[in-house]
Amino acid sequence: MSDQATNPKQSEKPAWMLASSADDSKAGSGTPAPAPAASAAPAKPAAPAANAAPMTVAERARAAALAAQQARAGGAAPTPAAPAADKPAAPKPAAAPVSAPAPAANTAGMSVAERARAAAKAAQTAREGGAPVVSAPAPVTTAAPAPTPVAKPAAPVAASTAGMSVAERARAAAKAAQSGGSPAPVAKPAPTAAAAPAPAPKPVATAPKPAAPVGGAAAIAMPARPAPAPAKREEPVYVPPGGVTRREFLNYIWGASMALLLAESAVLTYLFSFPRFRAGDFGGKIAVGVSEFPQLNGNPAPNNVGKFWMVSTEKGVMTHYKICTHLGCIYGWDESAKIFSCPCHGSQFQYDGTYRAGPAPRGLDRFSFEVVDATDKVLVESKDGTAIDLKKYPDAAKILVNTGNKITGIARA
Ligand code: FES
Repeated sequence: MSDQATNPKQSEKPAWMLASSADDSKAGSGTPAPAPAASAAPAKPAAPAANAAPMTVAERARAAALAAQQARAGGAAPTPAAPAADKPAAPKPAAAPVSAPAPAANTAGMSVAERARAAAKAAQTAREGGAPVVSAPAPVTTAAPAPTPVAKPAAPVAASTAGMSVAERARAAAKAAQSGGSPAPVAKPAPTAAAAPAPAPKPVATAPKPAAPVGGAAAIAMPARPAPAPAKREEPVYVPPGGVTRREFLNYIWGASMALLLAESAVLTYLFSFPRFRAGDFGGKIAVGVSEFPQLNGNPAPNNVGKFWMVSTEKGVMTHYKICTHLGCIYGWDESAKIFSCPCHGSQFQYDGTYRAGPAPRGLDRFSFEVVDATDKVLVESKDGTAIDLKKYPDAAKILVNTGNKITGIARA
């Protein structure tokens, strides 16, 4: 009162000047001053935050985004002071926008799907927790528009490609993409994404289908089927006047050669398996006259062609093979001893061919023979080479010795 009285000019100052002077005086006294009316001016941006309680989730998100944007543009100083002047409870929600820029800045390196998930999670948190809409900046990053547009166009695509096969769908999608389909339908659903970010996860599942949305059923043009390839013309085969082509002639030659080779092989195999000896040669039948045999116990008569000795014993006539049964030497007749003796190792054999002495394991081998008459009629046959008494066959004219049928001698006792 004394100041006004002493200085009447001060009473003419406006109230704000008086308040300012009062602050100056209080500052000089060292007492902190609460936020004055001067801080109420920048409180305007905070007003939406104070009214966040009746807002919807989307409005809260937009308000938070707006507050965060203003905070970045003008600094953090004016924002928190305003609610303090209007309402005591307002400062708490006003603090949210201050911290909101952080997640917004973190979404810079996030993909579209991650941003969508972040927005969905923020919206859910907002529904559960109420006022502190921390996830509001998500729409600000423009990440939200991406998921929803993907989900919506999928329906027409599925409807238009319902009767298509997988390959046709792929072709339609490729063609639609090639035709330069504008992303306009993709951008339209943007507002919807901001209003309801919750269904964001669905677009991720239906992501593979978005290619077709641009065209739709009406814009898909089926590719024309290629014309069938013309049938190949077969080149005419030249047939000579004789009626046999070169290929047929070569086939005939080849077949004839193979048939001739098989026939020769069969004949040679047969001759080798069944040897046949000519008569008169060793291995075949050799005919000797009955008169060529010695008298009873006379000196043996040799037959060099047939390689045998002819003897006449008391039992009849016989033929001995000239090869020693020991090691194959040619033995001889010892006229003085009246025995067959081998010069190699001294084996000895009786006149009838039985073993007598020496290393030979058995008696002399012999041949089978037949007694025939003058007409070559077989009178009697000795299949085992045993003696046949010719006195019983007065018509006997010849004896056919079969040198191909050797009979093993009797083993020594
Ligand atoms: Fe005749 Fe040895 S070969 S006794």
